[in-house]
Amino acid sequence: MCGIVGYLGTRDAYPIIIEGLKRLEYRGYDSAGIAIFDGTDLKVSKTKGKVADLEKKSEAEITTHGCVGIGHTRWATHGVPNDVNSHPHVSNSGELVIIHNGIIENYDSLKQELSSRGYTFKSDTDTEVLINLIEYIKKTEGVKLGKAVQIALNQVIGAYAIAVFDKNKPEEVVVAKLGSPLAIGIGKDEDEFFIASDASPFIEYTKNAVYLEDEEMAVIRFHKGIKVRKIKDDSLVDTYVQELQINLEQIEKGGYEHFMLKEIHEQPKAIQDTYRGRLLRNEAIIKMAGIEDNMKKFLNANRIIVVACGTSWHAGLVAEYIFEDLARIPVEVEYASEFRYRNPVITENDVLIAISQSGETADTLAAIKLAKSKGAFVFGVCNVVGSSIARESHAGAYTHAGPEIGVASTKAFTTQITVLTLIALRLARAKGTISSSDFRQHLLELEMIPGKVEQALKSDDLIKNIANIYKDAKNMLYLGRGFNFPVALEGALKLKEISYIHAEGYPAAEMKHGPIALIDENMPVIVIATKKGHYEKVVSNIQEIKSRKGKIIGIVTEGDVQVRQLADHVIEVPESLEALSPLLTTIPLQLLSYHIAVMLGKNVDQPRNLAKSVTVE
Ligand code: F6R
Repeated sequence: MCGIVGYLGTRDAYPIIIEGLKRLEYRGYDSAGIAIFDGTDLKVSKTKGKVADLEKKSEAEITTHGCVGIGHTRWATHGVPNDVNSHPHVSNSGELVIIHNGIIENYDSLKQELSSRGYTFKSDTDTEVLINLIEYIKKTEGVKLGKAVQIALNQVIGAYAIAVFDKNKPEEVVVAKLGSPLAIGIGKDEDEFFIASDASPFIEYTKNAVYLEDEEMAVIRFHKGIKVRKIKDDSLVDTYVQELQINLEQIEKGGYEHFMLKEIHEQPKAIQDTYRGRLLRNEAIIKMAGIEDNMKKFLNANRIIVVACGTSWHAGLVAEYIFEDLARIPVEVEYASEFRYRNPVITENDVLIAISQSGETADTLAAIKLAKSKGAFVFGVCNVVGSSIARESHAGAYTHAGPEIGVASTKAFTTQITVLTLIALRLARAKGTISSSDFRQHLLELEMIPGKVEQALKSDDLIKNIANIYKDAKNMLYLGRGFNFPVALEGALKLKEISYIHAEGYPAAEMKHGPIALIDENMPVIVIATKKGHYEKVVSNIQEIKSRKGKIIGIVTEGDVQVRQLADHVIEVPESLEALSPLLTTIPLQLLSYHIAVMLGKNVDQPRNLAKSVTVE
């Protein structure tokens, strides 16, 4: 949710932190702040709004720079977004400063206790309570900053990634993690250190990073290195320095107006990267280490439970159709947030597949932990390498989509479906539920998907025209059946999250059980009506909408005649196997949402109230 950045080294910390915050702004963007120690004093600047607003304000407020500093971009939890609630927060003495991503749940009782000891608070945040608790412990127990942080964290309930420093000891920064991600970039000769929620703020400076695990803290000392300890029992932890695989180009817009548009257009390559090295068509095999090594678990599974949130949940729904159809394994798809609190029946014979782009979604992570505690085997499908969900799973498969910066998920969705299709096909082969010729046909068709996505992207101008006609609609309905029912849900989610137009996705046949009452001449209805998959039935549904004067936008297979005669507009996608059609039908829906949001002047990459990774439950 929030993004944190810190620097300790020999360079000017200010521009590194500001640029780092811009890269992390996708995580939260209702306010931002920075604290720099300029050699004499602690300079703090913070504001409601974007990092660009902070940049303007801080240029006037932080006129002298230094080589240590921290910065924050916020997604509000406790306290509305305003200047005072923005991070960093400074302790009562003015000596300690903190940035925090997460929630301190017992902040109220801690606040009351500190208030009774004379502490005062300027903000409504849980974070200001934490920094004063650290200060109180440091002073009353006469301990160093690292120890005070450790004692304080053992008293708090909640989640955090924090960075703290003391202006009297600016050669040291203390960081800690529980539930929210934290990476430490290590410069050459350990003469500089970067702290961030992910590696994007520092990839041009170093490729070496340490990722803290939950309940770990680190004291980072200039020229002396990092000491990592367990917060609970103070034991020292051996650090593992990872070599980062991402590069700067991947996280820049590369000539596109928005990250979302770039990511939509990256899908042909992203899908190819997902199956590269796994789909070996000439040998007619699918090779996935995470599946091969755990084949027995999958083959003996009573059922597969998929847990995820949002768009990833929609990918799970597509997977349900694919797994059941190809591999004949029963699948249940669950919202992670419901599953974790429902006392679900889980046994050792269940396989849980957790799907998450960020790999940090709090509810999905909690669902994994619950399933593990009941003995289920957990398989993670994540995009972010080394993320918490990837680490917490017994095995997994990365989507290899590359960084997804736009808050609205696009390439994550199609690459998740690609990975899940590969798994279903591999299991179907192992179980003998697919014939060898069908299997080969699926491999061939899957290899053709990137080219077909490329083809689907060519309808951009047509989609822009349609967007222009319907951009002022107050509501939209999305209908699909079978494999394309989850695509209807996903299309509606894309529209509402970036254009703020109310939209609903429904199974097309369900329309007559209620939503049909909404249809009149003002209701645009997007119907996915590809040639395979209950085509005739969907055509009947289209007739029903037409009789009630609804405006119909059909997503159809190339060369379609029937729907074209009924619909107000049609957008064609290339023909494919029914099971693979979601990879194509979703493309025009992404573009439609994108263009409508742009035409309405909305912030496409950073829609209001949202954040890219949801690390609070
Ligand atoms: C929608 C969107 C969200 C995420 C959801 C899960 O465009 O981005 O609905 O899909 O928050 O996030 P991950 O996949 O990171 O677990």
